[in-house]
Amino acid sequence: MSEYRIVQVSDPHLSRYKAYYQQNWETFLQLMAENPPDLVVCTGDLCVNGVEHDDDLAFARTQLGRLGVPWLAIPGNHDIGDQPPDLKFKKPVDEHKRARWLERFGDDYWHVDRGGWRIIGLDAMLFDSGLAPELTQWAWFERALRECGGRPVLLFVHKPLFLDDPHETKTSSLYYGVDTRQRLVELARHHDIRVIASGHIHRHWETEHAGVKLIWAPSSGFIVTGHPKGVTVGTCEVGFVEYRLSAGSIAHRFNLSPRFVPNDMREVMETLKSTVYLPPRPLVTA
Ligand SMILES: [Fe+2]
Ligand SMILES: [Fe+2]
Repeated sequence: MSEYRIVQVSDPHLSRYKAYYQQNWETFLQLMAENPPDLVVCTGDLCVNGVEHDDDLAFARTQLGRLGVPWLAIPGNHDIGDQPPDLKFKKPVDEHKRARWLERFGDDYWHVDRGGWRIIGLDAMLFDSGLAPELTQWAWFERALRECGGRPVLLFVHKPLFLDDPHETKTSSLYYGVDTRQRLVELARHHDIRVIASGHIHRHWETEHAGVKLIWAPSSGFIVTGHPKGVTVGTCEVGFVEYRLSAGSIAHRFNLSPRFVPNDMREVMETLKSTVYLPPRPLVTA
């Protein structure tokens, strides 16, 4: 069986009116055109602020349409809101915000079987949301694991399970709550989940927990140097992740092409405390 190539791109934070990172998206499109993968998986935060601006969602959908290769996407907190307690913006995910995603991008959780693997994407913003689809998704996920036909599983979610401490109990918008993390780890223990790949932190890193490889994708849009919110692990570089799948094996590498602009939003974070409420910077078209 030949190799199946997946590119994971995360956190491009696209917007027609706050087009701070569009140049890096154009670079990403060029890199995909030069060496097209079999599939691109976008692991959320496609938008600067899809939560409040439908046009950010519309624009991000248009940009995915420019890829020229098959793609699948899952939402992040900048697309449909955060899971409670949503410590930051007090705009938790709800049925209405999720419906806007479904209308534009199709299913927010899905699986496909490729390269001898089962590839699963989850709408991790539903975790701990208390919404009816949260339960539906868990049931669907457990069935997808039970009925995977002996294939190893590559799982995509938006946030990582934890930072550097798998036993962390402090509530944070950076990772999942203890119960959700434990449930995912238990499912990995009982099924053949080999890799959990995430975005959200805007740093690339890899580690292992309970026999599962955990891979953090960098943002393809921007970085925040220093240690905002106490994040001390991972490396701040713009890029994406490439996976090569074949029966029973998987290899990955971080692609940190020097053609990406290392947009550092540290000063903005220090002054505005946000990468959402930025001054306008409209898209410049040739
Ligand atoms: Fe992000
Ligand atoms: Fe995020």
